[in-house]
Amino acid sequence: MSHADEPAGNRRDFLYVATAATGAVVTGAAVWPLINQMNPSADVQALATIEVDVDGIEPGSQITVKWRGKPVFIRRRSAEEIEAARAVTLAELPDQGSENANKPGTDALDANRTLDEDGEWLVMMGVCTHLGCVPLGDAGDFGGWFCPCHGSHYDTAGRIRKGPAPTNLPVPTATLDGTTLKLG
Ligand code: FES
Repeated sequence: MSHADEPAGNRRDFLYVATAATGAVVTGAAVWPLINQMNPSADVQALATIEVDVDGIEPGSQITVKWRGKPVFIRRRSAEEIEAARAVTLAELPDQGSENANKPGTDALDANRTLDEDGEWLVMMGVCTHLGCVPLGDAGDFGGWFCPCHGSHYDTAGRIRKGPAPTNLPVPTATLDGTTLKLG
């Protein structure tokens, strides 16, 4: 993708964020008084889980939601993205760990990065593992994500391929039940 296309990608990401945030506000309105009343400690708040309806996400697109104060990318990969990610061997990867909280200790082959066996659903923290910028989607030399802060390129499985980021984008604890994605 050319640089000229990136601003459009940003706007699209933003629209998705706005849409997702609308849903989050509804949840927040119901949950907040209880949380406020209970006045939980910070570590209890950090355990919070959220559910996201992923029904409307088209193949080849993603939404970004906020969870535990950080962006989370929820991508429904296209067949081409899956194919590209699965063609990569471990030897090509700077970080050969899956960095997947759901599959601790596994290697970074594509099958260990996604939530489902078909490899359609990829969920990752949207925080560059270099110094914490938010990478852009549908960008970079490997067709995945690109962090413009210092030039880190991630592939369509969110694995670091080029640039200063030391590790793959981490996959948080998550489960998918039908079209309901639960984070945490
Ligand atoms: S913060 Fe992403 S490359 Fe430096």
